[in-house]
Amino acid sequence: MNLAVIGTGYVGLVSGVLLAKLGHKVTCIDINVEKIAQLQQGKIPIYEPGLDQHLNEANERNKITFEAGYGEYLQNISAIFICVGTPPREDGGADLTAIFSSLDGLIEHISDDIAIIVKSTVPPGTCKAVESYLREKGKSNPVASNPEFLREGSAVVDFLEPDRIVVGFDEQAIASIMKEIYKPLTDTGKTLFCTDLNTSELIKYASNTFLANKIAFINEMSDLCETIGANVKDLSCAVGLDKRIGKDFLKPGPGFGGSCFPKDILALQKISRNVDSEFLILDAIVATNKLRPMKMLRMVQDILGSVSGEKIAILGLTYKANTDDLRSSPSLALIELLQAANANISAYDPMGGKNAGQILEDLKIADNAYDACEGAKAVIVMTEWDEFLQLDFTKIAAKLSEPNFIDLRNFIDQDKVHNSELKYYTIGQKH
Ligand code: UGA
Repeated sequence: MNLAVIGTGYVGLVSGVLLAKLGHKVTCIDINVEKIAQLQQGKIPIYEPGLDQHLNEANERNKITFEAGYGEYLQNISAIFICVGTPPREDGGADLTAIFSSLDGLIEHISDDIAIIVKSTVPPGTCKAVESYLREKGKSNPVASNPEFLREGSAVVDFLEPDRIVVGFDEQAIASIMKEIYKPLTDTGKTLFCTDLNTSELIKYASNTFLANKIAFINEMSDLCETIGANVKDLSCAVGLDKRIGKDFLKPGPGFGGSCFPKDILALQKISRNVDSEFLILDAIVATNKLRPMKMLRMVQDILGSVSGEKIAILGLTYKANTDDLRSSPSLALIELLQAANANISAYDPMGGKNAGQILEDLKIADNAYDACEGAKAVIVMTEWDEFLQLDFTKIAAKLSEPNFIDLRNFIDQDKVHNSELKYYTIGQKH
């Protein structure tokens, strides 16, 4: 099929490249001329493992093109995916400006049979509003909702091996188009879950907030383990073995971040408040995650005493591993608190270092983990990069001025650290 994808941000670019991998001919559109010029040269502006290979492959097979702006070429397209950003407004609600401005851009170029598929995360009612907007402009295009469940860092696998593909529509006409688009995946046994527009839109928020809820729960459980002398690692493992609960998203840490969970919880709060439907759990998730960096600071101060004037090394700056994304990163939040307590920070991250140095003043970015640790009173692991598992802990101990190793992700092998004579501290255990 001939498909178009509007928006070459994270979701749009990954979807465009991988829809081409499924055999479709895809045109990726963005109003950002520089970004399109870069993509036309085969350069990807984000870091996502494996995506460059699939883009090269799509280029070689002539399955993908990039266009700056809308044009007559849209006449040959069967379906258009809208993948533009829906950032939070000041009141927490999703800003839908880009959705409607993209409709304004494409409207004069499309015939009535082209399907409009909204992939951006949008509040229930948005696809209906898109439909009405098109009708007002004299268009009768069918509209579907098709939320995305990709995780940064594993987006390629998530797209090609989805747990389910969710599709919402209120008019049957679009069902066959959606089925045809995803046929290469449903042919291999993947589930295409069809529902109405409002439910499909809400499924996205429900999924993200439920996962955030699991993390918030295990983080508070981790605090309780520390206080009463239990071990959260064993607890999480045993609880997760219950199939009704599941082991995923039960890893305690410095709090969840990124561009999705924090934004989507606020949006769901707004959605439920708008209709006077109390959703108390959401308030608790927001509150506990907000407190997390402060709790991490207190733990560091309990271990080290005052951090004023001390050098502290931070390993990991991105909000999680395998991405260069620093948005709502718990690591940056802790660094700000440490700096406010007058600590000197030296940090290392495999991908996020360059941009972090531009965001936070007085943040020294080292070329590697060992340089970051030089003369520091403690090293704190903030992100679960595989690279940190391979560190030579004896060398780290030799670099530090005091042998304090604080693992706020609970993921480095304790025995390896102990063998190096470092003092190992983690969350969810009595120190
Ligand atoms: C999340 C969802 O997992 C995707 O399904 C969804 O498509 C995406 O948001 C989105 O809405 O676009 P993402 O933000 O890329 O994906 O990252 P996750 O892997 O979900 O991690 C989110 C945060 O939770 C990170 O800060 C991570 O470190 C933290 N986390 C995750 C934990 O602290 N503990 C865990 O056990 C798992």
